[in-house]
Amino acid sequence: MKMKRKVLYNVVAVFFISSAISCMPINATERGAEPKETVASAAMTEPAPEPAAMEAEKAPAPMLMAQLDMQDAKPVDPKTINPARKITPGGSALYEKAPEPLTVTQCAQCHTSVFMKIKNNGGRHQIHCQDCHQLFHAYNPTKNNFQEIMPKCTQCHVEPHGPQFTDCMTCHIIPHTPLNVPLNDLLEGQCGNCHTGPSGELTKYPSKHTEQGCATCHHTKHGNIPSCMECHDTHIPNQTLEACKSCHPVHKPLEITYEAGQETTCSACHDGVYETWTASPSKHSGVSCVDCHPVHGQIPQCSMCHTQPHDPKMLAKFPRCLDCHIDPHNPPVNK
Ligand code: HEC
Ligand code: HEC
Ligand code: HEC
Ligand code: HEC
Ligand code: HEC
Ligand code: HEC
Ligand code: HEC
Ligand code: HEC
Ligand code: HEC
Ligand code: HEC
Ligand code: HEC
Ligand code: HEC
Repeated sequence: MKMKRKVLYNVVAVFFISSAISCMPINATERGAEPKETVASAAMTEPAPEPAAMEAEKAPAPMLMAQLDMQDAKPVDPKTINPARKITPGGSALYEKAPEPLTVTQCAQCHTSVFMKIKNNGGRHQIHCQDCHQLFHAYNPTKNNFQEIMPKCTQCHVEPHGPQFTDCMTCHIIPHTPLNVPLNDLLEGQCGNCHTGPSGELTKYPSKHTEQGCATCHHTKHGNIPSCMECHDTHIPNQTLEACKSCHPVHKPLEITYEAGQETTCSACHDGVYETWTASPSKHSGVSCVDCHPVHGQIPQCSMCHTQPHDPKMLAKFPRCLDCHIDPHNPPVNK
């Protein structure tokens, strides 16, 4: 900070001094002074010093001019000031300190609504106003320069979604709440360009969900995840959303996978089998549906689990195991 101010001071000093210098020749010729006293000749005859040092040498010149101004200045006649107008006592002390840059809360004293937007929904845009607004209070309607002075996303972001998405504010409509992306026709046509996974699955595994538009399910606002129960009943009472998703991957809902312990769901559609299996005294009632039907609809071979239990001669006569064992869900057992 101190360093910055010192640099600023030097720059300002050099500016004043050099403008004074540039006036000097004119003043000098007007006063009919010798040409050899001009800055130009002095600079040429002397060995070239550091530029700053060179100008510092000429410092007395502006002092001289200031003194001339002071000589002209007369005290103001108090009678020429309107007595009805109260003037706060002032003086040079008011102007001693260089002004500090405005803080965020100082901007907010006037721009309360912008501040509140960033405070509540600014997300990772909770940065200093002036990081974005390097130029502000520069709008001039006669120049129609509003867009020109507003911050550009590309000052900080480099194509976060790839080169086909360059018109940032068509989607991020309010930079102070950057994650507020409205769900409009423009966005709807683009889902698959950013989310290749879901759109790929819906195409590769045709189901009735493929016929639904993305925004039929992801409605209301971008990123919204719907519950299956918005559109479907559960198979059995009190079934959880997590259960639905565990069997049906939503973008390929017919690629069903399930685990042991979910037999009651099967009962919703196969209640006969389920009743038989649950009531069976056989050891098969201890084998879960998924062990025998690992993929929905698939019928297992007994040999998946049983090695040859009988005399091959007998089996040659009766090749179908279920001719004798009748029902895999309730094979008759000797008690
Ligand atoms: C991430 C960058 C960013 C930050 C941080 C930011 N702004 Fe902005 N602001 C913008 C952009 C971009 C626009 C132009 C919006 C447009 O073109 O509609 C803008 C517009 C504005 C406008 C004029 C339009 C309006 O919405 O009223 C004001 C006033 C404003 N900002 C004030 C602030 C203040 C005050 C802060 C800090 C509290 C702040 N901004 C922080 C990027 C930013
Ligand atoms: C004393 C009140 C006040 C303060 C403090 C203030 N502004 Fe403003 N600002 C205004 C007014 C008044 C306008 C013009 C009307 C409008 O757009 O709201 C404006 C306009 C703007 C605009 C849009 C027009 C333009 O010319 O840039 C931006 C951006 C902006 N201010 C940013 C800021 C930032 C950033 C800060 C803090 C560094 C700040 N303002 C501090 C009063 C203030
Ligand atoms: C002064 C720099 C700056 C400017 C200008 C800027 N941003 Fe950002 N933006 C950031 C930073 C920093 C982050 C946070 C990045 C991080 O944490 O990885 C961010 C994050 C974001 C995020 C994610 C927000 C979140 O909460 O997750 C979005 C969206 C975004 N910017 C959009 C924009 C858009 C659109 C514009 C132009 C209107 C813009 N930004 C202009 C600096 C900027
Ligand atoms: C077609 C619409 C669209 C366009 C155009 C677009 N974005 Fe986005 N952007 C989005 C959506 C949707 C998100 C996700 C927002 C969310 O997380 O809810 C997003 C997220 C982001 C994020 C956060 C990324 C993350 O992984 O957290 C940043 C940063 C961002 N956008 C910046 C930009 C910038 C900069 C541009 C312009 C170069 C831009 N966006 C153009 C729609 C768009
Ligand atoms: C410009 C790119 C972009 C576009 C276009 C886009 N999104 Fe996103 N979307 C994102 C980003 C970035 C995120 C946040 C990061 C993430 O979770 O992948 C996101 C997040 C999501 C999420 C939440 C993911 C989660 O795990 O919570 C859903 C759902 C979503 N988008 C659906 C959609 C739908 C539907 C569309 C079309 C209407 C769409 N998106 C258009 C970039 C985009
Ligand atoms: C039938 C309703 C439905 C349709 C149609 C649908 N989604 Fe989804 N989507 C969901 C549900 C439900 C989830 C949550 C899944 C989860 O949590 O396992 C989800 C999750 C997501 C996610 C976040 C998780 C992930 O898989 O990355 C994204 C992104 C997404 N969907 C994008 C899309 C896009 C893009 C489309 C259109 C091409 C689409 N969805 C079509 C219901 C749907
Ligand atoms: C926005 C509504 C909506 C949501 C949310 C939704 N679906 Fe669907 N789903 C449908 C429609 C519509 C169909 C077709 C129904 C018909 O034609 O009878 C369907 C069909 C299905 C089918 C049968 C598919 C076929 O091709 O036969 C399954 C399975 C399914 N949904 C599971 C789910 C699951 C699981 C969820 C949650 C992860 C879910 N759905 C979320 C609307 C939705
Ligand atoms: C244990 C696995 C499992 C669970 C858990 C499960 N399902 Fe299913 N679901 C299936 C099977 C198997 C089918 C039959 C598919 C077929 O017809 O080929 C099915 C069919 C469907 C169908 C299409 C047929 C119909 O009845 O309309 C919908 C819709 C569906 N399920 C929605 C859901 C929802 C919603 C949930 C959560 C409440 C859910 N499923 C939980 C396995 C499950
Ligand atoms: C939503 C209803 C529904 C649910 C829940 C359901 N199924 Fe099915 N299942 C069917 C329909 C409809 C068929 C016949 C059409 C087909 O093959 O897809 C079937 C067929 C079968 C078949 C093949 C029948 C044959 O004659 O070839 C088996 C085995 C089966 N299901 C086992 C199960 C198991 C195990 C569960 C529990 C994890 C289950 N089902 C859950 C509806 C369902
Ligand atoms: C020990 C293995 C085994 C177990 C455990 C088992 N099944 Fe089966 N299931 C079979 C075999 C083998 C068939 C074929 C029967 C046939 O060809 O007549 C079958 C046929 C079916 C069929 C179609 C024929 C019918 O009777 O409707 C359905 C539906 C079915 N099983 C559902 C289930 C369900 C639901 C469960 C769990 C409650 C289950 N199965 C448990 C082996 C088993
Ligand atoms: C997923 C594996 C699996 C499949 C497939 C299977 N079984 Fe079994 N079976 C078992 C198990 C485990 C037992 C119990 C063994 C034990 O405890 O000694 C059993 C026991 C039996 C028993 C004795 C029942 C009792 O309660 O004592 C018979 C009979 C039987 N299986 C016949 C069959 C027939 C016939 C088929 C084909 C239609 C078949 N099994 C398919 C796993 C299977
Ligand atoms: C001609 C009738 C018949 C045929 C065909 C048959 N079984 Fe059996 N099986 C029986 C009888 C009877 C028993 C009961 C023996 C007992 O309880 O001691 C039995 C018992 C079993 C047992 C239980 C053995 C134990 O130690 O508890 C299994 C497992 C078995 N059979 C599997 C099969 C398989 C697999 C096939 C087809 C390859 C098959 N059976 C074909 C009549 C048959």
